[in-house]
Amino acid sequence: MRFFLTTAIDYVNSRPHLGTAYEKVTADVIARYSRLCGVETYFMMGNDEHSQNVYRRAVERGLDPLAYCDQMEQEFRAVWKQLDCSFDDFIRTTEPRHKIAVQKLAQVSFDAGDIYEGVYEGWYCVSCEAFKQEKDLVGGKCPLHPTLTPEWIREKNFFFRLSKYRDALLQHFALNPAFLQPDVRRNEILRLLEAGLEDISMSRAGQSWGIPLPFAPDNVVYVWFDALINYIAAAGYGTDEGKLEKWWPAGLHVVGKDITRFHTVVWPAMLMSAGLPLPKQVFGHGWVNYGGQRMSKSLGTSVDPADVAGRFGADPLRLYLTKEISYGSDGDFTFERYEERYNVDLANNLGNLVSRLVAMAEKYRGLRVSPPGSGGRLAQVVDECAARYRSSMDVYALHEGAAAAFRVVDAANEFIAETAPWALARDPANAERLSGVLFDVTEAVRVAAVLLLPIMPSSCAEILRRIGEPTPVADLRIERDARWRAGGARELVKGPSLWPRSEEKTASGGGADRRPALKEPKVEENATQATGGAAAAAEDTRLTIDDFMKVELRVAKVLDAEAVPKSKKLVKLRIDVGNEQRTIVAGIAEAYPPDQLVGRTIVIVANLKPAKLMGIESNGMVLAASPEGGLPTLLAVDESIAPGTRVR
Ligand code: MSP
Repeated sequence: MRFFLTTAIDYVNSRPHLGTAYEKVTADVIARYSRLCGVETYFMMGNDEHSQNVYRRAVERGLDPLAYCDQMEQEFRAVWKQLDCSFDDFIRTTEPRHKIAVQKLAQVSFDAGDIYEGVYEGWYCVSCEAFKQEKDLVGGKCPLHPTLTPEWIREKNFFFRLSKYRDALLQHFALNPAFLQPDVRRNEILRLLEAGLEDISMSRAGQSWGIPLPFAPDNVVYVWFDALINYIAAAGYGTDEGKLEKWWPAGLHVVGKDITRFHTVVWPAMLMSAGLPLPKQVFGHGWVNYGGQRMSKSLGTSVDPADVAGRFGADPLRLYLTKEISYGSDGDFTFERYEERYNVDLANNLGNLVSRLVAMAEKYRGLRVSPPGSGGRLAQVVDECAARYRSSMDVYALHEGAAAAFRVVDAANEFIAETAPWALARDPANAERLSGVLFDVTEAVRVAAVLLLPIMPSSCAEILRRIGEPTPVADLRIERDARWRAGGARELVKGPSLWPRSEEKTASGGGADRRPALKEPKVEENATQATGGAAAAAEDTRLTIDDFMKVELRVAKVLDAEAVPKSKKLVKLRIDVGNEQRTIVAGIAEAYPPDQLVGRTIVIVANLKPAKLMGIESNGMVLAASPEGGLPTLLAVDESIAPGTRVR
């Protein structure tokens, strides 16, 4: 099996922003997942250089356009490298292989009678590099570039007979329902095709920056007609027929929703004209906005992915982009939300799980973990999540794949809370059970790391190293390795915290961690405000021991539990606190069905003033670890501890 995967090639008039980075990162997740499935994969990215904006930017900087593009190539490559994008090829439209492919396709199409001379008169948006009809403009402006005024042009152009291919395109869509995903984009394009197609300009007159038409060298190829050909140019069209045979047609073009029309109408028609097979699929992803606004340099709402990755590393950003945005829909980024998700998913959840596992393995078993484990329910949950992960990733529901992998992490954390290895360790009679528990947790962490490998490649490689996985990362395979294994002793390895909580990082600013603090760009500029914040943080708000001792924490036993009517979260508990029984209403119903609560030994705050919840008086509060966005896990105490015992 082979898979040729492409992203859109970027205009180089400015550096990458978080929106363009989103496309590259999510495509990279797809490429890495494909390799993990054992599929021979060719993943390409590149730069689109023959744009008027690129030419103008070079002139502004007093540079020759090609020299400017050379510089930008280095900037783009550096950002993609920082984000760990594993492309196999990077094409530039000024390369000879691209020029050969463009001229060949233009000639073949011309010879087929699909290109003819005419005059274009109408609007042109230089930022879109697209001809616009009156109906495309809102208040005389391009809706995507409202700060710019479109140009009115009248020039002799060569036209491509797009209209000729309307019926063939409709038929292609009908025969290949999955050609364009997600379905909402498919419906948009079908409506457009049904309304009819007009021929389009495929050349520009009076410009020097571009590829000359082979049959009319005074004209250059229109930048979109030029750019689309990059995909077959990289596959060897016109330069390496053997390579073309091997890799074309592409398995998937990943592009933004604004340019799906070019990829599913114009591009297939160009390929039909040249007698080449069509790509198997196009995925039109949504937009990443910044704080609800379109990301744009001119509007001051552009986020530099290098800055974001510079704070916590590439993997947390890759996880955010994959997990927090439903693939195919629009999503949003803010620095607050990003930091919050970092703390919840990585610092508190996965990172903490790995640290606890290694610490317990060291304390109780000298870092050596051996089978047999108990398997049981944890094994079943892990295998179910792995299956859900695969079925999601196979249809590019990347966010659901990421969520399924994180359910493995949650299950492992819950398993630790339920089995309480620290309690087992107190009695030598539990030695075998304790070994089994540690083995099971290691196994769950291993599977989670394999599933998350395409999303967080370097951290997951490190997690696998720490749990003593012997298979080199590049040799791991989803079919064989993302499933529960009953055997295999492991030597765990200690290491520093993978993802320290972000406040801790800020606090250590003067030490080894010199990366920039994660702040809004506006705030960063305001030095006095930052100093003021630091001064406020210096005020000592910690409790004295006397303050703490005012809180009466006690062990309690659950005697009875029943769901609170009309509430998803609340459960009513009757508990024994040693010298009395009382009622507590707790928000743990989503994590624990009532019958699983009866008989548990828990910890409560015993001296809270009574409060009414859904009309029921609650006398105290149950303690639970409550990850943000996750389910609570009750604080577990050894059953042998008598109700009423003080916790301090
Ligand atoms: N050069 C053309 C593509 C030619 S492909 C044959 C182009 N370049 S671009 O630099 O403007 O955009 C590159 C890709 O980034 C496009 O797929 C575009 O949709 C995507 N994005 C640009 N801004 C984006 C967001 N804010 N969010 C998500 N994707 C975004 O178009």
